[in-house]
Amino acid sequence: MLSIKPNGASLLLLYFLLYLAESYPNIDSSSMGCEECKLRLNSVFSRDRPIYQCMGCCFSRAYPTPLGSMKTMMIPKNITSEATCCVAKHSYETKFGDITLRNHTECHCSTCYFHKI
Ligand SMILES: *[C@@H]1O[C@H](CO)[C@@H](O)[C@H](O)[C@H]1NC(C)=O
Ligand SMILES: *[C@@H]1O[C@H](CO)[C@@H](O)[C@H](O)[C@H]1NC(C)=O
Repeated sequence: MLSIKPNGASLLLLYFLLYLAESYPNIDSSSMGCEECKLRLNSVFSRDRPIYQCMGCCFSRAYPTPLGSMKTMMIPKNITSEATCCVAKHSYETKFGDITLRNHTECHCSTCYFHKI
């Protein structure tokens, strides 16, 4: 969903945004300063109009793998970890210069996926 004419400035912005997006799900929910999953203003792209994106912490846990599902695994692991991420429930595309961004309108805790801008 990216429509970028590769020029230096937009690539730099893109890397910065990817850095932000990828650093978020790694934050341990028990760490301090980790707030609930909700819409936050994206300060990088909110110069003209406000752009909102979902950020925050959702639960993550680890538990022993149930015997039944152990058999279906290619590589059996004794411990299964499960996590949800703060992702957008609804969003729509908007333009910031020549970069297409997504303005999120609603957040929830759901399956983790790699953030698309
Ligand atoms: C993003 O959405 C908010 C409301 O959800 C709106 O106020 C804002 O103008 C939108 N920004 C852009 C760039 O469309
Ligand atoms: C998983 O646990 C079983 C016993 O509970 C143990 O024999 C086995 O070595 C463990 N496997 C791994 C990969 O830790």
